[in-house]
Amino acid sequence: MTTSQKFTFDNLYSERSEPAPVRKVEHAEYDFAVAYPAPETLPMYGLIQALQAKVDSDADQVAREMAYYPHVLGSPELREYTSEKLKKDRDIDVDADGIVLTAGSGESIALLIQAITDPGDVVLTEQFVYGGTLNQLRKFKADVVGAPIDDQGLIPEALEDTIKRLTAEGRKPKWLYTIPEHQNPTGSTLPESRRREILEICHRYGMPVMEDECYVDLRFDGETQPAFRALDDSGIVMYAASFSKLIAPGLRMGYFVASKDLTERALSFKHGSGPNQFAAYAITGFLRENLDKHRNTFNPGLKTKSEAMQRGLEDHFSSSGATWSKPQGGCYAWLTMPEGKNISAIRDEVFAGGVGYLAGVNFAPNGDGQNMARLCFAFESPEKNYDGIALLAQLFRKHGVM
Ligand SMILES: Cc1ncc(COP(=O)(O)O)c(C=O)c1O
Repeated sequence: MTTSQKFTFDNLYSERSEPAPVRKVEHAEYDFAVAYPAPETLPMYGLIQALQAKVDSDADQVAREMAYYPHVLGSPELREYTSEKLKKDRDIDVDADGIVLTAGSGESIALLIQAITDPGDVVLTEQFVYGGTLNQLRKFKADVVGAPIDDQGLIPEALEDTIKRLTAEGRKPKWLYTIPEHQNPTGSTLPESRRREILEICHRYGMPVMEDECYVDLRFDGETQPAFRALDDSGIVMYAASFSKLIAPGLRMGYFVASKDLTERALSFKHGSGPNQFAAYAITGFLRENLDKHRNTFNPGLKTKSEAMQRGLEDHFSSSGATWSKPQGGCYAWLTMPEGKNISAIRDEVFAGGVGYLAGVNFAPNGDGQNMARLCFAFESPEKNYDGIALLAQLFRKHGVM
């Protein structure tokens, strides 16, 4: 039946639904706004070879597994590999059945949030925090509060003061979300001593901590610090990590580790089966053969890119009163212009002028960050990282913030 009158859902939407317009992805000439590495650095052929080798060696098993829906926890082989990797790299003891593979770590985080968060619950994060998690928390109506940070991340005393202040206001925090290695957006790494202090605080206030180690494999300087989950196996630490930044976001593969009871609760929010089995074969085969080789070529490349951006900042921002972070890994540097310089407000004009960045307000539970921006150094070439920062300084001058 064709009819000229369009049907409308206007009075039919559920109370919980909200419009979520599909945003067009636009790249500036110098794109520091993205959250992923350059396409040419992805090990495409390595992944394809691993997949081919798996099909060649176990054709019957592959056909059988592909014909069924994946196990709700995801591929047993990838969970086994992940269990070994967590032990070797992070000293985390968890067997394959304690790991839940999900469609990216974003799904892991969303499942855990739903399992432990009711509308109005107060959730603490770093003062500036990954926008994906911030948006998830807001979607599930958490009252998100950013705790003070410095260039090393969360400050234990300030965290405890925040807990005391909120508790006195009748808003006792329920749990803490943190990205201790190569924090998104600031690039900081939390020292072991602070992790230990924070764990003590969390135990004192009965406050679980969700540790997000999305970037842990991308270290190019300094020392990786022990995971919260390795320092404390009481169950108070929920752990999430991903293959997105180590290999490719397009694989959509991440995972979480939590206590058995909490895992079962989190799984109650899961729709359907475990994640893509084909991607799991490719990841398992590729990493079993190539993890060290991959990190040893990928991370030095990241370092070169980061250094080029740092040189650009030193050459073009040093006299502006700006400060910026000096990451030891990950994908981001965090730029702070002097107080009162609103670089969030001019983002669109600067984008049109050729430089993309993510404005600080996108990461700010407390609504601050107008004078701040996240700059991704992982995507563009070293040359473009330097030149783009030079252009950014020009554009900031043009728009009166420098
Ligand atoms: C800190 C952090 N956690 C989690 C994610 C989600 O990544 P994915 O769902 O691709 O694993 C991201 C993505 O940028 C991130 O930066």
